[in-house]
Amino acid sequence: MEITEDQLIQEALKAKERAYCPYSNFKVGCSLLTKNNKIYTGCNVENASYGLCICAERVAICKAVSEGDRQISTIVVSCDTDDPTFSCGMCRQTIIEFCYPGNDIKIIAIGKDHTKPKYSKGTEILPFAFVPKDLNVDSKLEQIK
Ligand code: THU
Repeated sequence: MEITEDQLIQEALKAKERAYCPYSNFKVGCSLLTKNNKIYTGCNVENASYGLCICAERVAICKAVSEGDRQISTIVVSCDTDDPTFSCGMCRQTIIEFCYPGNDIKIIAIGKDHTKPKYSKGTEILPFAFVPKDLNVDSKLEQIK
Protein backbone atom coordinates (compact mmCIF):
# COMPACT_ATOMS: atom_id res chain seq x y z
CA MET A 1 0.00 0.00 0.00
CA GLU A 2 1.17 3.47 -0.79
CA ILE A 3 2.43 5.44 2.19
CA THR A 4 0.58 8.71 2.69
CA GLU A 5 2.05 12.07 3.62
CA ASP A 6 0.13 11.89 6.88
CA GLN A 7 1.67 8.51 7.80
CA LEU A 8 5.11 9.91 7.07
CA ILE A 9 4.38 12.93 9.28
CA GLN A 10 3.25 10.64 12.10
CA GLU A 11 6.54 8.73 11.86
CA ALA A 12 8.54 11.97 12.11
CA LEU A 13 6.56 12.98 15.20
CA LYS A 14 7.27 9.61 16.83
CA ALA A 15 10.97 9.87 15.92
CA LYS A 16 11.08 13.33 17.54
CA GLU A 17 10.08 11.78 20.85
CA ARG A 18 13.15 9.52 20.65
CA ALA A 19 15.52 12.51 20.35
CA TYR A 20 18.58 12.28 22.58
CA CYS A 21 19.15 15.97 23.30
CA PRO A 22 20.05 16.49 26.99
CA TYR A 23 22.19 19.54 26.12
CA SER A 24 19.95 21.55 23.83
CA ASN A 25 16.58 20.08 24.84
CA PHE A 26 15.65 20.73 21.22
CA LYS A 27 13.98 17.63 19.86
CA VAL A 28 14.07 16.94 16.15
CA GLY A 29 12.50 14.02 14.33
CA CYS A 30 12.86 13.04 10.72
CA SER A 31 11.19 10.49 8.48
CA LEU A 32 11.93 9.82 4.87
CA LEU A 33 10.27 7.82 2.17
CA THR A 34 12.19 5.99 -0.56
CA LYS A 35 11.01 4.90 -3.97
CA ASN A 36 10.87 1.34 -2.58
CA ASN A 37 7.98 2.59 -0.44
CA LYS A 38 10.05 2.20 2.74
CA ILE A 39 10.20 4.63 5.64
CA TYR A 40 13.40 5.41 7.56
CA THR A 41 13.44 7.61 10.63
CA GLY A 42 15.99 9.53 12.65
CA CYS A 43 16.27 11.81 15.65
CA ASN A 44 19.03 14.12 16.78
CA VAL A 45 21.68 12.38 18.86
CA GLU A 46 23.76 14.71 21.01
CA ASN A 47 27.02 14.13 22.83
CA ALA A 48 28.84 15.58 25.85
CA SER A 49 31.48 16.50 23.28
CA TYR A 50 29.07 18.95 21.64
CA GLY A 51 30.64 18.94 18.20
CA LEU A 52 29.68 15.29 17.78
CA CYS A 53 25.95 16.03 17.80
CA ILE A 54 24.26 14.60 14.74
CA CYS A 55 21.03 15.92 13.29
CA ALA A 56 17.87 13.88 12.82
CA GLU A 57 17.96 14.26 9.04
CA ARG A 58 21.45 12.85 8.65
CA VAL A 59 20.64 9.94 10.97
CA ALA A 60 17.63 9.03 8.79
CA ILE A 61 19.55 9.48 5.52
CA CYS A 62 22.47 7.37 6.76
CA LYS A 63 20.07 4.64 7.85
CA ALA A 64 18.46 4.52 4.40
CA VAL A 65 21.72 4.71 2.45
CA SER A 66 23.39 2.09 4.61
CA GLU A 67 20.49 -0.25 3.82
CA GLY A 68 21.19 0.31 0.12
CA ASP A 69 18.06 2.43 -0.27
CA ARG A 70 19.15 5.76 -1.77
CA GLN A 71 16.25 6.85 -3.92
CA ILE A 72 14.70 9.30 -1.52
CA SER A 73 11.44 10.92 -2.57
CA THR A 74 10.22 12.79 0.54
CA ILE A 75 11.75 13.99 3.81
CA VAL A 76 9.76 15.22 6.81
CA VAL A 77 11.52 17.28 9.50
CA SER A 78 9.70 17.88 12.74
CA CYS A 79 10.50 20.01 15.77
CA ASP A 80 8.53 21.90 18.39
CA THR A 81 9.03 25.43 17.09
CA ASP A 82 6.06 27.78 16.62
CA ASP A 83 6.69 27.88 12.89
CA PRO A 84 8.10 24.97 10.91
CA THR A 85 11.86 25.25 10.41
CA PHE A 86 13.91 23.79 7.61
CA SER A 87 17.10 21.81 8.04
CA CYS A 88 20.50 23.24 8.95
CA GLY A 89 23.05 23.85 6.21
CA MET A 90 24.93 20.62 6.77
CA CYS A 91 21.73 18.60 6.39
CA ARG A 92 20.72 20.59 3.30
CA GLN A 93 24.02 19.63 1.68
CA THR A 94 23.42 16.00 2.65
CA ILE A 95 19.90 16.11 1.22
CA ILE A 96 20.98 17.60 -2.09
CA GLU A 97 23.50 14.83 -2.56
CA PHE A 98 20.52 12.53 -3.15
CA CYS A 99 18.73 14.82 -5.60
CA TYR A 100 19.74 14.09 -9.17
CA PRO A 101 18.32 14.82 -12.60
CA GLY A 102 14.86 13.32 -12.54
CA ASN A 103 14.66 13.10 -8.76
CA ASP A 104 14.06 16.12 -6.60
CA ILE A 105 13.20 15.47 -2.94
CA LYS A 106 10.02 16.88 -1.46
CA ILE A 107 10.72 18.51 1.91
CA ILE A 108 8.00 18.84 4.52
CA ALA A 109 8.76 20.91 7.64
CA ILE A 110 6.55 20.54 10.69
CA GLY A 111 6.38 22.79 13.73
CA LYS A 112 4.31 22.59 16.90
CA ASP A 113 1.11 22.36 14.89
CA HIS A 114 1.70 19.41 12.63
CA THR A 115 -1.44 20.18 10.66
CA LYS A 116 0.28 23.26 9.19
CA PRO A 117 3.34 21.98 7.33
CA LYS A 118 5.60 24.06 5.10
CA TYR A 119 6.90 22.62 1.86
CA SER A 120 10.06 22.97 -0.15
CA LYS A 121 12.30 20.91 -2.41
CA GLY A 122 15.80 19.51 -2.04
CA THR A 123 16.99 21.62 -4.96
CA GLU A 124 15.51 24.80 -3.49
CA ILE A 125 16.74 24.81 0.07
CA LEU A 126 20.44 25.24 -0.68
CA PRO A 127 21.24 27.74 -3.42
CA PHE A 128 24.63 27.29 -5.08
CA ALA A 129 25.05 23.88 -3.47
CA PHE A 130 28.17 21.90 -4.17
CA VAL A 131 27.00 18.91 -6.21
CA PRO A 132 28.57 15.84 -7.88
CA LYS A 133 28.89 17.59 -11.25
CA ASP A 134 31.17 20.19 -9.63
CA LEU A 135 33.66 17.37 -9.25
CA ASN A 136 33.32 16.50 -12.94
CA VAL A 137 32.18 13.04 -11.99
CA ASP A 138 28.81 12.73 -13.70
CA SER A 139 29.41 8.98 -13.80
CA LYS A 140 29.16 8.99 -10.01
CA LEU A 141 25.51 9.92 -10.38
CA GLU A 142 24.82 6.34 -11.33
CA GLN A 143 25.90 5.35 -7.83
CA ILE A 144 23.24 7.54 -6.30
CA LYS A 145 20.36 5.82 -8.10
N1 THU B 1 19.17 19.73 14.72
C1 THU B 1 18.68 18.76 13.90
O1 THU B 1 18.51 17.60 14.31
N2 THU B 1 18.39 19.10 12.62
C2 THU B 1 18.55 20.34 12.09
O2 THU B 1 18.36 20.53 10.89
C3 THU B 1 18.91 21.46 12.96
C4 THU B 1 19.39 21.11 14.30
C5 THU B 1 19.52 19.37 16.10
C6 THU B 1 20.98 19.41 16.39
C7 THU B 1 20.98 19.63 17.89
O3 THU B 1 20.87 18.39 18.54
C8 THU B 1 19.72 20.43 18.15
O4 THU B 1 18.91 20.27 16.98
C9 THU B 1 19.93 21.91 18.42
O5 THU B 1 20.69 22.48 17.41
